[in-house]
Amino acid sequence: MLLLINSFIIHALFLDYPSANVTSSWLNSPSTVEGNWRFSDNTSVRTILAIGRNGFPDFCFGFFNNGTADTFFLVIMKVPDKVDSTFSVYDYPPVVLWSANGDSPVGENAILALTDAELALKDVDGTVVWSRSTPGSVGMELAFNGNLRLMSEQNGTIWESFQEPTNIWLPGQSLLPSQNLYSSMSTYNLAKGLFYLGMNNDFIGCYVDSRPAQQYCSLLNVRHHTSFDFGVGSLNRSGNSVTYIARSQDFQYLRLQPNGSLIVFLFLDNYKEMFYYDVLNDQLRDACSYPTVCGRYGVCNNTKCSCPDEASGSTGFFRQSNALQSDFGCEAINTISCGDNIDNHDFLELLNVNYFSFRSRISSIDAPQCKDICLRDCSCRAVVFRYRDYDTSKGECSFPTDLFSLMVTKKDNMLPYKANTCVKIQIPRAKNKKSSSTSLVVLLVSLFSSGIFLLLLGACYFYVLRRKKRSIVNEREGETSIIHVPPVVIKFSYNDLRAIAEDFRVQLGKGGYGEVFEGTLKDGTKVAVKQLFDKGKTEFLPEVETIGSNRLLVYEYLHKGSLDKWIFDRNGEQNLTWKIKWQIILGIAKGLEYLHEHCNPKIIHFDIKPQNILLDEEFNVKIADFGLAKWIERDQSKISTMIKGTRGYMAPELIAGRNVSVKVDVYSFGIVILEIVCGRKNSDMYENEVYLIDEVKRKAEEGRLEDVIDECDEELRGDKGLAVKAVEIAIRCLQPRNIRPFMPVVVKLLEGTIEMEPIFDYGFLSMFYDPNSSEAVKKNDSERLMDSVLSGPR
Ligand SMILES: *[C@@H]1O[C@H](CO)[C@@H](O)[C@H](O)[C@H]1NC(C)=O
Ligand SMILES: *[C@@H]1O[C@H](CO)[C@@H](O)[C@H](O)[C@H]1NC(C)=O
Ligand SMILES: *[C@@H]1O[C@H](CO)[C@@H](O)[C@H](O)[C@H]1NC(C)=O
Ligand SMILES: *[C@@H]1O[C@H](CO)[C@@H](O)[C@H](O)[C@H]1NC(C)=O
Ligand SMILES: *[C@@H]1O[C@H](CO)[C@@H](O)[C@H](O)[C@H]1NC(C)=O
Ligand SMILES: *[C@@H]1O[C@H](CO)[C@@H](O)[C@H](O)[C@H]1NC(C)=O
Repeated sequence: MLLLINSFIIHALFLDYPSANVTSSWLNSPSTVEGNWRFSDNTSVRTILAIGRNGFPDFCFGFFNNGTADTFFLVIMKVPDKVDSTFSVYDYPPVVLWSANGDSPVGENAILALTDAELALKDVDGTVVWSRSTPGSVGMELAFNGNLRLMSEQNGTIWESFQEPTNIWLPGQSLLPSQNLYSSMSTYNLAKGLFYLGMNNDFIGCYVDSRPAQQYCSLLNVRHHTSFDFGVGSLNRSGNSVTYIARSQDFQYLRLQPNGSLIVFLFLDNYKEMFYYDVLNDQLRDACSYPTVCGRYGVCNNTKCSCPDEASGSTGFFRQSNALQSDFGCEAINTISCGDNIDNHDFLELLNVNYFSFRSRISSIDAPQCKDICLRDCSCRAVVFRYRDYDTSKGECSFPTDLFSLMVTKKDNMLPYKANTCVKIQIPRAKNKKSSSTSLVVLLVSLFSSGIFLLLLGACYFYVLRRKKRSIVNEREGETSIIHVPPVVIKFSYNDLRAIAEDFRVQLGKGGYGEVFEGTLKDGTKVAVKQLFDKGKTEFLPEVETIGSNRLLVYEYLHKGSLDKWIFDRNGEQNLTWKIKWQIILGIAKGLEYLHEHCNPKIIHFDIKPQNILLDEEFNVKIADFGLAKWIERDQSKISTMIKGTRGYMAPELIAGRNVSVKVDVYSFGIVILEIVCGRKNSDMYENEVYLIDEVKRKAEEGRLEDVIDECDEELRGDKGLAVKAVEIAIRCLQPRNIRPFMPVVVKLLEGTIEMEPIFDYGFLSMFYDPNSSEAVKKNDSERLMDSVLSGPR
């Protein structure tokens, strides 16, 4: 009897207020709001709009407090149906369906204002925390599907919350390619989390929001399905949008959870039962396939987490981020330093360890080659190598720049490939005292007067050396054998060298092929001594290949170091003047022209990038590191080769492994010009959202090339004409191979003795330009292997 009366009173108490007209405003204060509802989990909401059925509130829009902070989120929520006898405290927690200001909660006395121009949320100090321009709106309305709409006079929709989903997808709501679902940090901390769900022309994908994003699921692949059915509802595609269709009257929604799982919730019979469906369960059957099950760098083995040390059988490289919680991930004891060159980097090999995301652009490659590529790119954090059981030399590899959880592959997995992962580590200096090699011949290059071509001359001579001295005998320490070498190449014994380099005390840098130490000759000349690693024999410096197993090279010490230090210096301490930048560009061009035209046979460098451009006291250019260089016989204009070079600088035909010629260096040179002029790396995806080349493409198409010029460089801005010319020449160097100019033409363009041909289609300006098709490969298209695996057996 009492209960009946109670529920009658509640009926009488709740009158909904689903809409408001312009101009209105709402103050976030307990005394001014319509409803002030508290829930059993200590959360509460001060309502602005509310809509209900049968005398009970159903959805509301208002200021939400999560019970642990004194701040508020502006939200739309589903109000639980049951109310207890105090009329104000609800038995069940509410469901926050949408939030405006997840990343910036407001305080007491914040104001929401609705005018015919905008809907704006201002904090108490007047800062606009969130606003949407809504010209011509006459009012707003909350609907029974949880959508908040701003209407025009004719009941048209000017703005609606459905077009800006946060972490929940509701029945009736459509998703377009530009609209992503974002996870929140936790259920009640509505700040943007780590995951998002978005769609492209082919599928709906789940991604870790790193740079670049890493995909971990795909749903509703249009090539096979037009809808994704989960019993109580489905996601149906029509055209380029996907709509959530419910098959039940009960309230349901799909939420991207804070841990990356995607779950459908259905409340049956007034909350008496809850149906819970894990959408990704079929795909990610193994809990280890979730990107953050074991945190960053964590290795997941049958749901148990450990650090890469354990899985590789080594110690001293990683520790748990939280000593008590193994699933919080691991951190490197020595973080990877990208300071000068690639300092002391190596790998921990994890056999049968796979990674959820795989973006391969390089196939038919073996693991050592993949590792070399990764060593040469400091942003690379690991090599994921996938291969067929029977052939480890023809695998594919991927180079994540941000590493989340790794997974040990189960014995009974149904994957069509095997996978190993090599995690990049920093070797502490103390551990890096490698014992010196026994046999050695040492070459001293370029003790000439300074000039552009010193190292290049050396390179030409090495070839001569190879031709003439096929029968050189390896030396033992202390022995001296006489070889007739051209004057630029001087031979030292190992002991001489150790004295010169002062026991290899001062390390100048390290590359994929060796470490470089500082040394001083008897006459006081500073030199750099390069000690080569004993690995990757086929990729050894050509110089060394000619003599046998020698491992030390001596170079002239170049005081100004490598070009990358000068052009990527964000602190502006080492700003080059425009005159010097131009001198450097011309210097590289002439150096390359020399390699391509005047060396006999021609030399392709294969690894032109700022790290390999050395500068002497007067900023004269020396092209260094012939680690990948290749000689071409006279009559051979094209060569076939394995993948060589550095990501971001490699010509498309080199990646495709076809029609490789001296023009691959011209391409790399084009990228280097852009980097010099624009003062940023082409593929620095940490700091910049887009590849530099894509940015240049956009500006070129808009005819606004001057916009890409380094903003820090005042002097350069004063001389825009020349800088734009440099960029235009760079673009010519990036053209498809068949129309890309040879170096002598590029030098003439730079010197201004010939004119440039106009360009009408900039389609080739893309990191993913495919030389075999007229159209560039789309970025999203890269998950081929992943995709086919995911849509495999269900
Ligand atoms: C709600 O708050 C009270 C007092 O602040 C506290 O004792 C209680 O544990 C909280 N309940 C929940 C579910 O957090
Ligand atoms: C206004 O439009 C909404 C949806 O577009 C519709 O649900 C509603 O019934 C319309 N209202 C009137 C009064 O026409
Ligand atoms: C409540 O919100 C604050 C502010 O955004 C956040 O720091 C806190 O973690 C949230 N509490 C819970 C339980 O999520
Ligand atoms: C959506 O897809 C489901 C499952 O394929 C189908 O039964 C239903 O008819 C579709 N609904 C609409 C509106 O197309
Ligand atoms: C993610 O969180 C949900 C609860 O929100 C839980 O059921 C699920 O097991 C979690 N998944 C993983 C992989 O941790
Ligand atoms: C995974 O765990 C199993 C035991 O559960 C162990 O035998 C195996 O060596 C582990 N694998 C790795 C790579 O840690």
